[in-house]
Amino acid sequence: LAKTPLFQGVPPQALEVAREAFVTRNYPAGKQIFEAGDMGAALYIVQSGQVRIYRTYLDGRERMFAYLGPGEVFGEMSLLDDQPRSASAETTVDSILLVLYQDAYWSLVRKWPEILHNLATILARRLREADLELEVLSFEEARGRVAYALTKLRKQRYGDGVKMKLTHQELAQLSGTSRETVTRVLHALREEELVRVGSGYVEILDPAGLEEVLFGLR
Ligand code: CMP
Repeated sequence: LAKTPLFQGVPPQALEVAREAFVTRNYPAGKQIFEAGDMGAALYIVQSGQVRIYRTYLDGRERMFAYLGPGEVFGEMSLLDDQPRSASAETTVDSILLVLYQDAYWSLVRKWPEILHNLATILARRLREADLELEVLSFEEARGRVAYALTKLRKQRYGDGVKMKLTHQELAQLSGTSRETVTRVLHALREEELVRVGSGYVEILDPAGLEEVLFGLR
């Protein structure tokens, strides 16, 4: 708990109380934690493992919002505004999650308002990212959008210098374009030595170069 941004700068005594307030839950890989539209008013912290935040649309397409790792928080939106879940959450690997229910949340926040400030900071950061994403998805061409999806996967899910397990179809969904377009864009990015492409994987060779593509600078 001490490592999560939610408890940054909070006195040790608050951490003691918080430890009691959270419920620990084990989830196997690929388990849905909740679905977009569900009612629910608990906030989660990833203790170990990884959680994928996404939405599925009626036509079967999926949009990926984020991959969250240890220390990261999700589910805070419904906790705060009592509206249905804005997205679905699922584990990608065996994971341990800490769950905080609304009553427990409020009694912590009343005693230590820093926690509320930290949560606001987390939301501000997420809004910045969402603004950037909106900009890239609405103004950039397919090339920039594919570069954006690859960069996001590298930063959030796989890390640097890793073969990212990924089909052209998946990448098409993530970047809001067609499979044919992804194939064409990947071919060009490979020619420019920004990525390496194999069967079922993409490896980023030049992360900085790819970020330039994302912003339409290259
Ligand atoms: P909530 O709406 O309660 O349930 C779904 C959760 O997904 C939401 O709270 C946020 O914690 C998280 N979430 C929604 N949109 C994004 C996003 N764009 N980036 C990261 N996390 C998100």
